[in-house]
Amino acid sequence: MKKAEACTYVIYGATGNLSRVKLMPALYHLDVENLLPEGCKIVALGRREWDQQKWRSEVRDMLEAKVRNGLDESVFERFCNRMHYHKGDISQPESYQQLAELLAQNQYPKNRAFYLAISPADFATTVELLSGVNLLSEDSGWSRVIIEKPFGYDLQSSQSLQRCIGKYLNEEQIYRIDHYLGKGTVQNLLVFRFANTMLEPLWNRNYIDHIQITHSEEFGIGTRAQYYDGSGALRDMLQSHLLQLLTLVTMEPPASMDAEALRDEKVKVLKSIRPIPKEAVNAYAYRAQYTSGVVDGENVKGYLQEDNVPESSVTETYAAMKLYIDNWRWKDVPIYMRTGKRMAAAQSTISICFKQPPLQFFRDTHIEATRPNWLLLGIQPEECIRMEMTVKEPGLEMKTRVTSLDASYRQDDEHNIDAYEDLLLDVIEGDRSLFLRSDEVECAWRIVDPVLQRWAQDRDYVSGYPAGSWGPEGCQRLFDKESHAWRYSLQPKEKD
Ligand code: BG6
Repeated sequence: MKKAEACTYVIYGATGNLSRVKLMPALYHLDVENLLPEGCKIVALGRREWDQQKWRSEVRDMLEAKVRNGLDESVFERFCNRMHYHKGDISQPESYQQLAELLAQNQYPKNRAFYLAISPADFATTVELLSGVNLLSEDSGWSRVIIEKPFGYDLQSSQSLQRCIGKYLNEEQIYRIDHYLGKGTVQNLLVFRFANTMLEPLWNRNYIDHIQITHSEEFGIGTRAQYYDGSGALRDMLQSHLLQLLTLVTMEPPASMDAEALRDEKVKVLKSIRPIPKEAVNAYAYRAQYTSGVVDGENVKGYLQEDNVPESSVTETYAAMKLYIDNWRWKDVPIYMRTGKRMAAAQSTISICFKQPPLQFFRDTHIEATRPNWLLLGIQPEECIRMEMTVKEPGLEMKTRVTSLDASYRQDDEHNIDAYEDLLLDVIEGDRSLFLRSDEVECAWRIVDPVLQRWAQDRDYVSGYPAGSWGPEGCQRLFDKESHAWRYSLQPKEKD
């Protein structure tokens, strides 16, 4: 592990939700592990008139709700001593001047990371104003800016955001977060693929029939209607997190684990994805909204009845898509992706279905048809790698059953590290491999843009699915073959 240099972490939007549930707990955990560099300072920026004492009690609340193994008072003391609450309004140039004066004090290391946990509409102005008070120059230390998704709203807006911030920052200073890349199970995908040779010969169109990537949630949109209704499932999950999963499963081995080598390979995959013709969007993508239903034994509202959702909203809470990668390895292997809120269970899984054996050897036995092998990669909540194989059932008859080989990721005594811990540390270590490069973001928008445009035009009808179900029936039409069907579980199927 690289030794991180002392730095000042400036958190914009420190009193907001992301900071409460992710950033502060992650920074605290890094402090527990002694991974924050000596002299590291944290400046928490918010609009509220809070003094240091009030901020400290807020931080205590944030941490008590989230930390592993209870709050350690001596680490909490050290953590609070690193921190300073700074009142500032992101739209006011004076507040940037005041921040610059604060950071000029000796106790604040001149390497600086600015985390913009703020509304995407404010990204460009904040960067411009930070630059206006010379906080982005790298004359006396590095200066890095971390930007949360969404990076733009579509291809055009993401290009325009890039042009705006590109005036003040070079690419090496920009850390575009996709928190999925910080998940241990997602990083394990790279290890699984590139530290083992066994599957590599099979990892292509000759042996793989199709791939499914699923992210389902039991939660609805909660209090996020304002953001969510302007976004929808395709932008919120699929364009970002699910396409990232797709790149990791399908990319070629990179020349090294260096950030550029890795990102080059991801970009190559994204560029090879067959463009969806605007007139054929319905054959490649499906959207739906949840209607009222029962989740976990509780009656829940439909999307249109949620607070602050307009009655006429056509925003999708479920999106499914079929993609093809037109390269030698993957030509004509369908990749089905789906994501939805208020579904039957919460899970993120990659399921890889292998082809059937070329001959059905066991025709004159009790074995009617062999089942395909599946490789299941459980990202969350169950973290696993499981290979399903058909084996003979003990007994005199020739009957089979499915068993699975388990290469589980975590052992019982190993704790879960939140994605943000990894990513916040990478920023201060200057490791950009788990952050998105500008061309990568642009390619991802290019893939979904025809669908977004088509859906924005078709405002008459969006199909529904009952909350607590596995989504709309109609999306079966995306499947290329009758034998294709969504995989719902990491357990072996009883019967095909
Ligand atoms: C966020 C989306 O980026 O990812 C949310 O905005 C979604 O809508 C969340 O719920 C899922 O992340 P995770 O880590 O809980 O799977």
